[in-house]
Amino acid sequence: MSSQVSMNIQTKSTLFSGIQPSGLLTIGGYIGALRNWVRLQHEYDCLFCIVDLHAITVRQDPKTFAERCLSFAAQYIALGIDPKTATIFLQSHVPAHTELTWLLNCHAYMGELSRMTQFKDKTQGKKEQTIGVGLFDYPVLMAADILLYQTKLVPVGADQKQHLELTRDLAVRMNHYYGQIFTVPEAFIPEVGARVMSLQEPTKKMSKSDENEGNYIALIETPDVIRKKIKRAVTDATMGITYEPDTRPGVANLLTILGALTDRAPTALAEQYADKGNAALKGDVADALIAFLEPFQARYHELMDNRDALYAILRRGAEQTRHRAEPTLRRVYGAMGFWQG
Ligand code: TYM
Repeated sequence: MSSQVSMNIQTKSTLFSGIQPSGLLTIGGYIGALRNWVRLQHEYDCLFCIVDLHAITVRQDPKTFAERCLSFAAQYIALGIDPKTATIFLQSHVPAHTELTWLLNCHAYMGELSRMTQFKDKTQGKKEQTIGVGLFDYPVLMAADILLYQTKLVPVGADQKQHLELTRDLAVRMNHYYGQIFTVPEAFIPEVGARVMSLQEPTKKMSKSDENEGNYIALIETPDVIRKKIKRAVTDATMGITYEPDTRPGVANLLTILGALTDRAPTALAEQYADKGNAALKGDVADALIAFLEPFQARYHELMDNRDALYAILRRGAEQTRHRAEPTLRRVYGAMGFWQG
């Protein structure tokens, strides 16, 4: 390796992000997060994680879980993450994530975790006896993911902003108490597409764990299903197309999806469609989705048919990240006064 190349590697800041393998990867996760991973992968030293430990905060079927994790790795790559440039790995393969979680747990407060919107949403209407501790502690594991690698940038959708703020608070709190042990990370939240909405209920977020499949477009869905789902997407009876997320959330959501896939601002698209109806807009959204997803799906199936190459990528990712996680973990133990032999 030339000295120029090795210098570049050393001077790149670290970028970390992850997705829970808790359902099918959706167009929401792609537009809100993964698309930016692809765009930023050459500027940063990137770690892209499949956060399988986060996924078990709700019950997963042990018979299909491993396959789903593998399929997420294949989807990352098929969407454009280059495994030669970025590191792709499973969270459970790097024990330092759970180890640092414990150290952070002892500095996190019940009050701040109780305020997390995602925790409140996921536990709404449930009896306390049935709410898992993992769900409550989930943001601390996420903070550990990020802080373990001295991460500078975390590209995520808007729903993760609060978790990022908690991560920053924990880093600042511990740096204040123990000296400089963590880099304080920043969130990268896109201007367009930070919150892709549900197709049937456009005032709530599109979610891969939604019970109603009509609410999301999964990346591995067939063209027929995509067309049907977009056709049935809830809009409104107002004539013409305008971009007004507050009063016309369904139409605004379709413009956002089309804008993200064609690299146009939703407001500019709205002008172009001003005199057209919902049907024309929906037809074009479905076409754009299919044009994007068909070649992606072909790459995805090719990767899934070549398991050995995928296993090798994940094994290499685990080895590299295990090694990379060690110095921060040692630094934290040391700063806290643990005897390290
Ligand atoms: P998760 O798995 O729910 O979502 C993965 C990423 O996709 C984004 N996203 C969306 N963006 C726009 N519109 C949507 N409808 C939409 N749905 C999902 C999310 O904001 C996220 O960026 N806690 C995280 C996973 C995680 C993580 C981390 C992320 C664990 N550790 C460390 C970053 C860094 C989560 O549940 O994301």
